[in-house]
Amino acid sequence: MLLMPLWTKENKIFIVDQTQLPKTWSETEITTIEEMHYAIKTLMVRGAPAIGNAAAFGMYLGAKNSGFTDGDSLKDVLKQAGDYLATARPTAVNLFWAIGHMQHFADGLPKDADRDALLTALFTEAKAVLNRDIATCKAIGRHGAGLLKHCSGILTHCNAGALATGAYGTALAPIYTLLEQGIRPKVYSDETRPLLQGSRLTAYELQRSGADVVTICDNMAGYVMAQGKVQAVIVGADRIAANGDTANKIGTYSLGVLAKYHGIPLYIAAPFTTVDFDCIDGRGIPIEERKADEVRTFCGVQSAPIDIPVYNPAFDVTPNELITAIITENGVAYPPFAESLAQLKKA
Ligand code: MRU
Repeated sequence: MLLMPLWTKENKIFIVDQTQLPKTWSETEITTIEEMHYAIKTLMVRGAPAIGNAAAFGMYLGAKNSGFTDGDSLKDVLKQAGDYLATARPTAVNLFWAIGHMQHFADGLPKDADRDALLTALFTEAKAVLNRDIATCKAIGRHGAGLLKHCSGILTHCNAGALATGAYGTALAPIYTLLEQGIRPKVYSDETRPLLQGSRLTAYELQRSGADVVTICDNMAGYVMAQGKVQAVIVGADRIAANGDTANKIGTYSLGVLAKYHGIPLYIAAPFTTVDFDCIDGRGIPIEERKADEVRTFCGVQSAPIDIPVYNPAFDVTPNELITAIITENGVAYPPFAESLAQLKKA
């Protein structure tokens, strides 16, 4: 069965609380924009495309629970809803893409439509955003599988799988495509401190899908490469600048440096909703800093002096010269990315 982090049933919106995985599969109905904001902020829903999908439904909920009566008042409500949701997390550009998309969609609705018709249209569009993301991920899987099919070992970081998207994933999509073709490379899944998206989520979803997955601590990646165990590194992205510089989970940059040293390709897999053409290079990407306690503790247990100062950036930026290719739904972009990404977007 297709694993999905967010789904709808009889006009209700549900998520799985990813902070509880892999121990507990805990489903929660989200009924307000405040609940969606909280779910994104606390990483119940996480991963750039999934955050975008959640935001699309958050915009609908913001409208549903407001007193708007027509197209004009809906516009004001969606402006407020967007400003509010935009404060949930700063780095994944998919959040801002989804907010803008829903506002733009609402602007195009008939001005004389009544409240019920407008709400139905918003809900249908949020579902379309989700479904398009799933189709996008499948296309990324097809394009990426060709690059990975000769690898006996592949390294990935964080979770850019089904749980981080509508379904199927970005970095994990080519691995699922290969599995469908009967090809089963060994996937090394970095644990991904501090919040362990690799060991909690990537290991969980790949194992559940019958993949050959091994979890390693982040500091083992260099040794795994030196031993010749992996022939490719593939990760997702939270925001890709126009020149290909890529923000992704903290530790990706170190992997890029290690991969370059060992002559191993680094692939970024991401939809165009993750490419920020307004951002010329990686210096313009805002990097989220999270709470100190995420580093002072390990799975909720104190693992450092309780008052030790902490630096906890959730993402880093990998410069484009460390990136071999960017796999999108429209095909594979190669350096120089400023040209290839712009070309592929039009494809
Ligand atoms: O903090 P998270 O768990 O939201 O970070 C997720 C990542 O960094 C993913 O690699 C990225 O969003 C791509 S998900 C397809």
